[in-house]
Amino acid sequence: MIDLNQLHNLMQGHKPETAIILGSGLGGIADILQDKLIIKYEEISGFPRSTVAGHNGQFVIGKIDNKEILCMQGRFHLYEGHNPEIIAKVIQALKYIGIKQLIITNAAGSLNPDFHPGEIMLITDHINFSGCNPLLGANDEKIGPRFFDMSNAYDKELQEKARNIAKRKNINLHEGTYLMVLGPNFETAAEIRAFRILGADAVGMSTVPEVLAAVHCGIKVLAISALTNFGTGIQATPLSHEETLSGAAKASGSLTDLIINYIKEE
Ligand code: HPA
Repeated sequence: MIDLNQLHNLMQGHKPETAIILGSGLGGIADILQDKLIIKYEEISGFPRSTVAGHNGQFVIGKIDNKEILCMQGRFHLYEGHNPEIIAKVIQALKYIGIKQLIITNAAGSLNPDFHPGEIMLITDHINFSGCNPLLGANDEKIGPRFFDMSNAYDKELQEKARNIAKRKNINLHEGTYLMVLGPNFETAAEIRAFRILGADAVGMSTVPEVLAAVHCGIKVLAISALTNFGTGIQATPLSHEETLSGAAKASGSLTDLIINYIKEE
């Protein structure tokens, strides 16, 4: 159980309404915040720890242009062995402290030959191929309904706002469907071929559980992938975590630019 009272106290009266989950190699936005308050995950009783290289493990609360936001530097992946439920608890903790809108970023492999490594993609929908769900088990009706609608999971208004900013700021923003695998291995070439037939444009190992939990508890979601590589078999060379980190570094410029301008226009 995450100690929500303690988290409330650690927030020291700060009341951000927008949270950003920063994916692998995409932690940079947190560094430019002003008047920072840092809360390490280990300070929060019951909060999970992130175990992945390139993921920090802290909340960074601070301002961009006087707009207060909360960044999650470090997220929790099912492949780390976390109980799927803990991902829902983390998102529900964000709801508890007053978050209304969640911007989710991730590193993903591109399945679309027109979407190149180093570019970014607005997620317009997803395919949950993980075989998992963070909302398994008894449902708390005070948090959200048992059976909930996913037709506007990636909030269309927020998408339109991101699209307009990208257009105005000349940021190349692709759009497509994200497919989540459980990981931790990268896919086989046959899997990538299958996922393309299913209609996916990008593949990754995160985001979907967070989106499910956010939609369930009534937080609006905007999600953007940093495309770090082509999927197995589309690119000839073997994949590595290092390649995804360097691909994320390449994409992080336009991703940061888009998100900063998005926040400024809140
Ligand atoms: N597959 C799964 N997850 C990923 C990839 C990929 O190719 N690239 C970055 N995250």
